[in-house]
Amino acid sequence: MPSSFGTALRVTVFGQSHSPAVGCVVEGLPAGMHVDQEALAAFVARRAPGNDPWGTPRREPDLPRIVSGLNPDGETCGAPLAAVIENTNTRSRDYNNLLEVPRPGHADFTAWAKWHGAQDVPGGGHFSGRLTGPLCVAGGLALQWLAGRGVRVCAHVAELAGIPDEPFCAYDNSPAGLARLAGQVEAVTDGRRMPTVDADAGRRMVEAVMDARSRKDTVGGVVECVALGLPAGAGSPMFDGVENVMARALFGIPAVKGVEFGRGFGAARLTGTQNNDPYEVRDGACAPVTNNAGGILGGITTGAPVLVRCAFKPISSVMVEQDSVDLSRMEPARLKVHGRHDTTAVIRAVPVVEAVCALALADVLLAWPAE
Ligand SMILES: Cc1cc2nc3c(=O)[nH]c(=O)nc-3n(C[C@H](O)[C@H](O)[C@H](O)COP(=O)(O)O)c2cc1C
Repeated sequence: MPSSFGTALRVTVFGQSHSPAVGCVVEGLPAGMHVDQEALAAFVARRAPGNDPWGTPRREPDLPRIVSGLNPDGETCGAPLAAVIENTNTRSRDYNNLLEVPRPGHADFTAWAKWHGAQDVPGGGHFSGRLTGPLCVAGGLALQWLAGRGVRVCAHVAELAGIPDEPFCAYDNSPAGLARLAGQVEAVTDGRRMPTVDADAGRRMVEAVMDARSRKDTVGGVVECVALGLPAGAGSPMFDGVENVMARALFGIPAVKGVEFGRGFGAARLTGTQNNDPYEVRDGACAPVTNNAGGILGGITTGAPVLVRCAFKPISSVMVEQDSVDLSRMEPARLKVHGRHDTTAVIRAVPVVEAVCALALADVLLAWPAE
């Protein structure tokens, strides 16, 4: 059962929530790339629950330890790069009742159906949100490689518990629109724990999350991500397009139930004249004036920002009693979930979405223009 993706840049994620460690193997990073390990650790730390009230009380340092793939000067040496994050704060007894009675909405039942009871249950096993830690390590490396090519990837909480943030203005690809988008990206990346463009929307989101938590319930939302600085012409038609590569990777993030690019499902309600992005000559090159396409046509980049949104379902581990089945007896059962859980995955998932978009885009760019 490989948990891998990518072609030119291949990533494998391993581990379980309560195994000694989780980690990743990254193959295909160009040799000689300097890895800023401090910046990498700071990026990975953005997904940690910290002391935020919406996050799981399971707190761990989550310091990535690179165990292969670097030379003594801290540059990639061409060999596969492997990194581990130790699991230091596990409490497996909280999950004893899930060995036979699966949580509705989690992967307990499907793991049982696939692995016939041999699956590792505590903490969600291989399906745990902890596996997004190594994804951030791999993606943090891809972000550093992309930054060296002038590509920047940035995400924000676009919606949480039904409360919208100011959206990225990425449909406007005019110089003024791009300058405004750059300003929004700066606002989101100023170090705030709640990554919204509109700080007031962020405050209302936190209130909604705390309200759900007080009712022992959980909430979902949308993460919106842009990639700036991509050249036109990267990607392939049909099955290896930029959308294909990104969507395949983004659906690997636990709890993602929808992915859309540009206007996405909204394009279905537009006419052709409304949805088309007219071209103009800008600095001697052809550029779309608007960007309803989200930076991708025919699976190939247009040179406008790539815009993608991911819908996250609410966390399934709610603290109220629910109907389930005792799988050992095939009898109805009532289930009360224990353990330490997030009230929402959305906020912690912002750097995860950036990481996964960066991995997918680096995979596309490393295969281009040689193909
Ligand atoms: C950052 C992050 C944190 C998560 N934390 C939890 C959690 O605390 N409890 C939980 O039940 N699910 C959590 N999830 C979601 C589950 O891992 C996910 O719902 C489960 O693996 C089933 O997969 P699916 O929802 O993609 O079908 C988290 C997901 C992410 C991305």
